[in-house]
Order: sequence, then structure tokens, then C-alpha cells
Amino acid sequence: MRRRGCGSKIGIRLPTAAIGPCLGGGALLRRSDSGNGDANPSSDYRRRPGRAASVAYAPSQRIDSIVLERQNRAHVLQRIRAGVLEAGTVDLLRVVGLGERMDREGHPHNGSAIAWEGRPRFFIDTKKFTGKSMMAYGQTAITEDLYAARDAAGGEIIDEARNVALHDLTSTRPYVTYEKKGQTHCVDCDYVAGCDGFHGVSRQSIPASVLRTYEKGYPFGWLGIMSETPPFPDLCYCYHSRGFALASMRSPMLSRYYIQCDLDTRLEDWPDERFWQEFKARCPKDMADKVVTGPSIEKSIAPLRSFVAEPMRYGRLLLAGDAAHIVPPTGAKGLNLAVSDVFYLSRALDETYKTGKTHYLDCYSDMALRRVWGAARMSWWLTMLLHRFPDETPFDQRARENQFDYLHASEHAQASLAEQYVGVPFEA
Ligand code: PHB
Repeated sequence: MRRRGCGSKIGIRLPTAAIGPCLGGGALLRRSDSGNGDANPSSDYRRRPGRAASVAYAPSQRIDSIVLERQNRAHVLQRIRAGVLEAGTVDLLRVVGLGERMDREGHPHNGSAIAWEGRPRFFIDTKKFTGKSMMAYGQTAITEDLYAARDAAGGEIIDEARNVALHDLTSTRPYVTYEKKGQTHCVDCDYVAGCDGFHGVSRQSIPASVLRTYEKGYPFGWLGIMSETPPFPDLCYCYHSRGFALASMRSPMLSRYYIQCDLDTRLEDWPDERFWQEFKARCPKDMADKVVTGPSIEKSIAPLRSFVAEPMRYGRLLLAGDAAHIVPPTGAKGLNLAVSDVFYLSRALDETYKTGKTHYLDCYSDMALRRVWGAARMSWWLTMLLHRFPDETPFDQRARENQFDYLHASEHAQASLAEQYVGVPFEA
């Protein structure tokens, strides 16, 4: 990548750049001068049809990139997001050197409990059904780790980049313009990774005649709090006639709790005492008695939405993360999808720069979308199962109860949910 008029080069190792979407910025990726001309693909990531990909491939060259971020770092780091990592995400973070703090501070867990009003609580044992564990580790912590890795690698992040615009995306030399401190800057690129979230410019730069979008809204949101209290031991999803509730965790002294709320809910109407009272009213008594309450250190409301945009590639623009898809938080798939997109994207760029072949670039959109749709379906299904809908009929309710009873009674149903919850393997 070349910045017109300044000519400076900034290089980072690819793995760090590849996780860039979690930063919510746009990563502009280009081969650095240090790239070798090796014509043989690394055997670690050669295509193995019909088999799952190992994440244990290590991109061997530097590919220059610049991250453009609309906000400043402090703003990015104070946003609280979900924090349950699939087994594949955990593996990948370790492989790219971002696992140390996660392994120290994260909370490994082997499944989640489901509690249904008036029925016995039970545990979906992902470890038993899949042999894999998950990790509770907040997206905010991952973002801090990414910033630290990028700083250590000398990679550039331009924050407060305004009016970002993408140009000539279907040419071999796309470029990006942005404004900062009243000046317009221009970056020449080989590829533009559009990782700028649902409201970002990247997806909007794809002509409407090319883009197909699929959307579903839900008539409620989640009111969430974070408290410095010991978490309930299991991550527990609760269905109740008052609405859904979820007990989750970040670390041994940091808990995350949510309740389903109306879309017009105002934070100021929910002091902590009211939140805890409502939360406890929605979970079984023995669970309510064990929940340790305390002052919230964060409180926020998030609407629920399912959205998928296809294709995820337009010329030299490759979308990743929320720029291409949104899932409701039920099942915690959003961050994991961003990570799997980036795994596919980094492998594709690595292959292209290393060998000149474009197999993985050419199938990037289809491959990423297969996983996206799997997660979109699963989080839609869990949302339908566990929430109260304002306009639901007695039929809907009975069918939902039956679905729960089936899940409770059937090892096959539990195994299927466990497989999706822990995360299907990346494609080879
Ligand atoms: C969270 O900890 O924020 C969380 C956990 C599980 C979910 C969603 C969110 O399904």
C-alpha cells in the first residue's frame, strides 16, 4: 500500500492485521517488499477437500496494512460486547500469538445450562458431545490484545479517520481516501478489507445491483449489565413467561447478565435493584438464590437483528464481520464469525501473495457465507426458542415448549446444538 504524497510504508505481520475487523476499522492490506517469491503453498494449509482446516498455519511473510478507524482508541476500548469464544476462535487466537492473556484471564467452560420456567434445568455438555471446550473472554479484552500486538509489531492504526471512501474497487489498484484533521489522505491498495461494521462505508460501496441482503428484526432488545461479582458457575440461558434472561461471565470476578426488554426501554428506568429483581424473577429459585448481586459497572441496551449481505466480495473489496452480517446475540456468534471471516481472508491473501494463486480469494465469499448462514440460523433458532414474542399465539407457545422438551429428552438434539454452539470447524 502506498500513501500518495508521502510514500511511507508500514508493515505488520498478517495474523495481526487479519484480526483487524474486531477493531471495527477498515484494514487495507498489501504485500510488503519483504514478501518472498515462494511458488509453493505452505503444506500446512494446502487444500484438503472434504476435511476441516487446521488453524495451525502460520503466514510466513509480512503484508503491509493500514487500519482506518473512525473512533479513537479510548472509545473503541470502552465498548462492551459479547464474550464467548468458540473452540476454533480459541485455537486461532493461540496460533497467532494472542492467547496468552486469554488463557490467563479467560474462563474455560464445557457447555451451557438451559433453565425453563417450571421445568428442570439441564446442561448442554459441549465437551461430552464434541470433545471441545469454549472460553468466556470479553471482546473488549481481545480488542486490547489486538491493539497491543499491533503496537508491538509497529503496525499503523489511523484513528479518527473521517469520510472514508473506497474507489476503483473493481480495478487492480483500488484506493481509499479519508479525512483527518481537515486534510484529505489517499492510500493505494492491492485489497481493501471492509471490516467497518454494519454502518460502515464498505458494504455501501457495493452497487445495489450486485448486493443481496436478507434481514429479520426482533421486537425486543437485551438490557445487559456488568458487575464485579463472582459469576453464576454455569453460563445459563433462562426462558420465562416474563421474558428471557442470561447469566454469563468474563472472569472469576466479573459477571455479565442480560434480560430481554422492550425496544423502548430506557436505561434510566432500570436502576440496579430493579434489574436484579427482574433477573431473579426470571430464573429458577435455586439459581436466583445463588446469584451474587452488586453494583453494575456498565449497563446498556442492544436491539436484536439478523442480517446477511451477499456476496462478501466485490472486486478487490472483501467484507468481514458486521460489515456483512449481524446475528442476534443469543449464542454469542457475532465475534466468532468475524474471526472465522478473517481466518478465511488471511489464508486467501497469504496464498495469493505467496503463490500468485487465487483459489481461496475466489471462494472467500462462498466459504465465509456457508459459516455465516449456519450461525445466522442457529442464533435465530435459539432466539425463537428462548424469548417471549409480543404477538405470539398459544400455538407458538406450545410448539416452543415441545421443542424444549425434545431438546431436554434427546441426546441427538443436544449433540446437534452442542456442535453448532462450540462452532463448526473452518473449511479446508
Ligand atoms: C455474553 O457473555 O455476553 C454472552 C454469552 C452468551 C450469549 C450471548 C452473550 O449467548
